[in-house]
Amino acid sequence: MNLLATDLDGTLIGDHDALQDFVECMAPARDRILIAYVTGRSLRSVLSVIENTAAPVPDFILPGLGSDIYRAPSWDSDWTWHDHLSRDWDRERVVSIARQYGSLVPQPLENQAIHKVSFHVRPPGCGRVVEDIRDRFMLESVPAKVVYSSGRDVDLIPLRGGKGEAVRHLVRHLGLTMDRVLTVGDSGNDEDMLRLGCHAAVVANAQAELHGNIPGHVYRARSSHAAGILEALHHVGWLGEP
Ligand code: GLC
Ligand code: MG
Repeated sequence: MNLLATDLDGTLIGDHDALQDFVECMAPARDRILIAYVTGRSLRSVLSVIENTAAPVPDFILPGLGSDIYRAPSWDSDWTWHDHLSRDWDRERVVSIARQYGSLVPQPLENQAIHKVSFHVRPPGCGRVVEDIRDRFMLESVPAKVVYSSGRDVDLIPLRGGKGEAVRHLVRHLGLTMDRVLTVGDSGNDEDMLRLGCHAAVVANAQAELHGNIPGHVYRARSSHAAGILEALHHVGWLGEP
């Protein structure tokens, strides 16, 4: 069994025709390739994407940058992972520090989660605050990660968390080896899952913040969105010749 762990926005979704092709090519391979959606979106928002687009029902959903792991078809949560993330996470402290930075504007309530505090940067593209708050967390030994995506989104999450660590937990749980795993993404919040040591790819439309920040072994697809994922699946030989 293999596992495709893919981001949603800008990766699987964003090009309707490419997504249709992806669905057709993947259908005969679903008994060999498990799919996990690993995204900044909430579970509710992912379920609405599945309902309103051609995106197939995956085997796992890892929403909120991997702050939970849900398994199809009942979407039961993996509580061992949830508890692991809670261990030294002080959400209130993280929020009170973040409030001191005027350039961080809180995202709407539906984007906030127990293990994810999210902001937009004002003005967009001004990543300086990301370095400042990272230094502050380091200096004050706050066990939190600062994740910057799309030149706009800032997510504060437990140091133990992030897409990469969540996928690692899932892979262990499934008893897979890393050569059976392919991660694909397009923006800053995907960086740690591209560094897991498994097969990894970025789609051609990847965000500027990801370029220059990814290790040499990561496959750079020539195609965008879902077509880039298909290209990566061919590249690792899981779908045969294109
Ligand atoms: C999604 C989430 C948002 C997050 C962003 C980047 O858009 O809704 O809260 O900041 O992904 O991770
Ligand atoms: Mg994305």
